[in-house]
Amino acid sequence: MPDRAMSFGAVAAAYERFRPEYPVELSDLVTAYAGRPVRTALEIGAGTGKATRLFARRGVMVTATEPDGSMLAQLRKNVPATVGTMQAAFEELRPGERYGLVYAAAALHWTNPEGRWSRIAALLEPGGVFASFGGPFRPADPAVQEAVRAARAPFLESDEIPSPDGTPPDHTMQWPGTELQQSRWFTDTQQSTIERRFMMSARDYIGHLSTVSAYLVLPASEREQIFSRIMRVLPDRIEIFADLTVHLARRHHED
Ligand SMILES: C[S@@+](CC[C@H](N)C(=O)[O-])C[C@H]1O[C@@H](n2cnc3c(N)ncnc32)[C@H](O)[C@@H]1O
Repeated sequence: MPDRAMSFGAVAAAYERFRPEYPVELSDLVTAYAGRPVRTALEIGAGTGKATRLFARRGVMVTATEPDGSMLAQLRKNVPATVGTMQAAFEELRPGERYGLVYAAAALHWTNPEGRWSRIAALLEPGGVFASFGGPFRPADPAVQEAVRAARAPFLESDEIPSPDGTPPDHTMQWPGTELQQSRWFTDTQQSTIERRFMMSARDYIGHLSTVSAYLVLPASEREQIFSRIMRVLPDRIEIFADLTVHLARRHHED
């Protein structure tokens, strides 16, 4: 089976088209938490640059890193000239320059857990901020949610990503906040939710699903079958809940 983490490049153009932008409330939240001007940032797994744009537009000098060449090629079309880019997986990043902000948008769970927090700490200025955010897309109507689940079930139990450290969904603090709270390099871990609701056509919802890794790693014929089965049970327009969970933590001043 193809690697789920590296499945996105095949659909880079669809990713750019069907995934939503990140809201300005997100950069407001990060800036308010930082409590001081954020001048430089390093982004992990920047994809097509959806979160890169948000911070670059605020005047942050962002270095966007991304291992997939097709995603990075899309990103370069979409970001201001002030953005630096580097084709690299998180695991390939080496300490050197330190940043006021290190962040990952819907990408941290794809990175290797070994040495994750020491690597991030080494990339941050003392007192610098780490941010990780993302969240699933779910039909708001429970009946539609159930119809989609049943249409998918013969092929795929769930299209979501299980918690990397097994934190149950009803726990108040979710991953990676759970790990940040335990990490010797970080303090002041905070979890927030930014509410997001979308109305979209059935076709655009399927377009969105076509960028989700659980489907991307299936054989093309199965993927097509699932999408046509889901399409048949969808109303013309769907309301989507797509709340963003945001984790923030501050790097200690000392090592
Ligand atoms: C769901 S996409 C998110 C893209 C973008 N950050 C966004 O929010 O739109 C996940 C991204 O993580 C990247 N990725 C996968 N494995 C990675 C790794 N080990 N290090 C850094 N990025 C990785 C993928 O190539 C993909 O672009």
